[in-house]
Amino acid sequence: MSTARPKITTATLRTMKAQRERITALTAYDHLFAGLLDRAGIDVILVGDSVATVMQGRDTTVPVTMDQMVYHCELVGRAVQRAMVIGDMPFLSYQVSIEDALRNAGRLLKEGLAEAVKLEGGAAFAPTVQRLTDAGIPVMGHLGLTPQSIHQFGSYKARGQEVAEQQRILDDAKCLQQAGAFALVVEKVPADLGKKLASTVEIPVIGIGAGPDVDGQILVTHDMLGLFTRFRPRFARRYLELAKDIGTAVQSYCQDVRGGSFPNAEESY
Ligand code: KIV
Repeated sequence: MSTARPKITTATLRTMKAQRERITALTAYDHLFAGLLDRAGIDVILVGDSVATVMQGRDTTVPVTMDQMVYHCELVGRAVQRAMVIGDMPFLSYQVSIEDALRNAGRLLKEGLAEAVKLEGGAAFAPTVQRLTDAGIPVMGHLGLTPQSIHQFGSYKARGQEVAEQQRILDDAKCLQQAGAFALVVEKVPADLGKKLASTVEIPVIGIGAGPDVDGQILVTHDMLGLFTRFRPRFARRYLELAKDIGTAVQSYCQDVRGGSFPNAEESY
């Protein structure tokens, strides 16, 4: 009997929700991190457009390009054996036309080795979700705070604080489910709304700052490792302080080189 752990698919995620087993998800942008996360047992790896802020030093996720997302997806895709790899559709790769969306989503699967794509937005994108799904491309929706719309919102504050907006988010979730989305990410909304969303739709709801009563959680890996420190969302629990540790390690190395204690005899040929 094989002891290998089965590959995570859209069907696995549906079953996990049905069995009330919480889904774990993190971001990765490169081969090294993707392999580490996969071997540690993460269920879902998102190649997020957060690569723009985390790795490219941009202020927002808006500038990252389709070619760059394909590049990062492929690095991740080659490293992963068990987790499901989802590629983020960058700004303007799916908003102009459904044909564009199909071609670009297809690139993330064909060239980027992703197994699904994620796109931001609600009911307005239901026809796009439907078309991609019909073409055999699984789509994850993204509601609540949608960072690609930062210039429209003007801030990264929590969404769904008022009844009308909560209702809109619930309606959007139902609409995306109806269009064929296999899962949703819901970002920075009140915990009550997260809970309501997860009990309203049958597809898995993965929260990021959406409270504990959703079907799974996702964080930006570089946030939870304390590697990315430019800003710190309240929802991003830190499991390590790697930025500090790296600083300390580099200082020690500099000290050793400058003092002549590195390399020693064992480190020399
Ligand atoms: O790009 C990203 O990392 C994301 C997560 C925050 C869900 O969309």
